[in-house]
Amino acid sequence: MVEFETIVNPPQEVFEQIVKLTSETEDWAFQLNDYNFWSSNFDQFWLVTVVEKGTLNLVASVSLARWDGEDGPLFSVGMYYVVQKYRGTGLGKPIFQKVMDIAGDNNCTLTGAVKMSAKYANVFGFDKCPEHWHVWSDVKLSDVEIPKNLSSKYSTKVWTEVDYDALTYYDRTICIRNRKKIMTAWFKLPHTFTRVVSDVNGKIVGYGTIRLVGNKRLSCAPYYADNLEAAEVLLKDLLENIPDWKTHTTLEFLYPECNKDPLRLLEKFAKSKEAVSTKKFCRSQFTKVLIPTPDEKVYSLSDFSQQYV
Ligand SMILES: CC(C)(COP(=O)(O)OP(=O)(O)OC[C@H]1O[C@@H](n2cnc3c(N)ncnc32)[C@H](O)[C@@H]1OP(=O)(O)O)[C@@H](O)C(=O)NCCC(=O)NCCS
Repeated sequence: MVEFETIVNPPQEVFEQIVKLTSETEDWAFQLNDYNFWSSNFDQFWLVTVVEKGTLNLVASVSLARWDGEDGPLFSVGMYYVVQKYRGTGLGKPIFQKVMDIAGDNNCTLTGAVKMSAKYANVFGFDKCPEHWHVWSDVKLSDVEIPKNLSSKYSTKVWTEVDYDALTYYDRTICIRNRKKIMTAWFKLPHTFTRVVSDVNGKIVGYGTIRLVGNKRLSCAPYYADNLEAAEVLLKDLLENIPDWKTHTTLEFLYPECNKDPLRLLEKFAKSKEAVSTKKFCRSQFTKVLIPTPDEKVYSLSDFSQQYV
């Protein structure tokens, strides 16, 4: 009979199984470097895993990050996953309980999958939620055509070429917690492209990151813009600066369903509206305090494992 053991902060090899499997079975969009990124850039980070005893074969995982701010620590839970053949056997809940014990009475957030959201609220107190769900929209890149005649009122630059204080200032209009260190490291990750969009006066009105993730998918994470015209110019320039962008598989956005502009954006870049598929995906949930976000500017969340916007 297979026995199991729990390993906290396992070798990279275990994380690589998580990235591969969650991409295949859940469409999750993580990169192999994310484990190192979380461990290096949050104030504390735990990856709690269950493996088949004596091996590094993944059975279950959950992550926890502590991110200190002026309002105290914020904990975030992510990567909660049980390998399909072991689901429903009671191996998931104890590791979830373990990270909740570490988080204690502090505010804690997660993006709850549709089928799990109510359980997180009822069992673990993640009951401070916005009204809306987050929806996922994607389009095959073979169905994407860059529209002509986009606005000439906006232009973009790669993130390293803009006034970084101005970019940080813009980011604080999106995320009220200071995440300069986290986002700087995020932009620097390999296989990651970030551009900033400004108006004719040089004022920053948005920025977007596209990450190359499993199965040659293009994951927009994050993507923010003050208006649809700026978002369109940003998407054109981002795509055109990814080598061989047409050879990738899908382009993906995860956004608050109360904001209709991300869907309009994708439909404008798709050869037909029918080429865009959309599904209800997750909900932002907190245990103590719901941290507000400017949903009308959010076209895609950043890191839906350890961040809330
Ligand atoms: C969500 C998931 C990790 C749960 O794994 P599991 O194997 O069902 O976990 P267990 O066997 O320990 O759970 C036993 C029961 O406790 C529930 N449970 C498990 N974890 C729970 C949690 N964190 N909070 C509340 N209830 C939980 C299960 O839903 C199940 O309840 P049920 O018998 O009423 O259906 C697993 O289904 C999975 O990997 N799903 C795909 C990835 C995903 O959606 N992850 C969640 C992202 S937010």
